[in-house]
Amino acid sequence: MVCFQCIFDSFAYLSLAYILYRLFWSIYIIIYPYLISTPLDLHKLAGNAKWAIITGSTDGIGKEYAKQLAQKGFNIILISRTQTKLDSVKDEIKKECKNVEIETIVYDFKNANLNDYKKEILSKIEKKDIGILVNNVGLAYECPDMLHKVDLQTNADICIVNTVGVSILTAAVLPQMVKRNSGIIVNISSGTAYMNIPYLSIYSSTKAYINHFTNILRSEYSDTNIIIQTICPFYVKTNMSKVDETFFNLSPKNFVQSALKTIGIIDETTGCIQHQIQAVAFGLPQFILDYGMKFQTQVFKKRAAAFQREKSAKQK
Ligand SMILES: NC(=O)c1ccc[n+]([C@@H]2O[C@H](COP(=O)([O-])OP(=O)(O)OC[C@H]3O[C@@H](n4cnc5c(N)ncnc54)[C@H](OP(=O)(O)O)[C@@H]3O)[C@@H](O)[C@H]2O)c1
Repeated sequence: MVCFQCIFDSFAYLSLAYILYRLFWSIYIIIYPYLISTPLDLHKLAGNAKWAIITGSTDGIGKEYAKQLAQKGFNIILISRTQTKLDSVKDEIKKECKNVEIETIVYDFKNANLNDYKKEILSKIEKKDIGILVNNVGLAYECPDMLHKVDLQTNADICIVNTVGVSILTAAVLPQMVKRNSGIIVNISSGTAYMNIPYLSIYSSTKAYINHFTNILRSEYSDTNIIIQTICPFYVKTNMSKVDETFFNLSPKNFVQSALKTIGIIDETTGCIQHQIQAVAFGLPQFILDYGMKFQTQVFKKRAAAFQREKSAKQK
């Protein structure tokens, strides 16, 4: 005979085990990578390949990855749109890290033409031993708004910059990493990948693409020693975010110092303990998140209206 009491008890124990698991996991991913683990030797993980490529590396997070990887002794390939900015970052790094080689490539990631990728980037990196690829370049709205109010070109550019570069460059460096059975790929996503965020539709969706893509690659290459990491930051003080530095809004320097220590330790993380604490909120039940999102949407709505007013005043 079916014992209903036993069934109810089993469900109760299963629920309890699930709650305890979620609680343990949330605490583990906050504490272990940032406070307990010992950073790994990146040269060893890179299979002693000397070069690191960083896209979008003349400002913000990308520039810091370039500087800090050079400080660790990697030769650097900087890729951004502006030669003068590339030259000045190159000089800045060279002053501090005299023994590293630095090369620059001018490329506008709004251009998705494969022949241009081959001519401008791939031909210049194919003979180099690439140990690390940081797919950092990203584009966001000048101001969050409803999809139909953002001009079509901006919508197209955000789609292209945030998804095509990461896909092509990752595919291009993997053959040599597979051959070497080592290498590091860091894909910079965003905390916005974790939620459906009104007024950030394309940006948030492209970042979800990066998370999905990186998760799949980790499965595909799970029988190799290649590290494929996703970093999902919240606010970092850069030109893109335009936020002030606070306890939660880190400087790019502090953010990258923290994120670099997690390579090989955790596959997907926000990059720093402050953001990982913020990410716990995404474990709340969906109806609470939706309720919170309503307030955020109101803030975006007001900002978008003010932005549009300013824009039309300038046009007059
Ligand atoms: N800052 C944040 O709060 C935050 C939060 C979450 C995620 N993220 C992500 O982190 C990454 C870096 O953001 P960031 O805040 O450091 O940005 P940032 O300070 O605005 O720097 C962007 C860099 O990318 C280059 N770049 C921009 N558009 C480009 C294009 N079309 N082609 C080539 N290079 C281009 C810029 O140089 P040029 O202008 O000279 O080309 C610059 O070096 C992005 O993927 C972003 O989505 C940032």
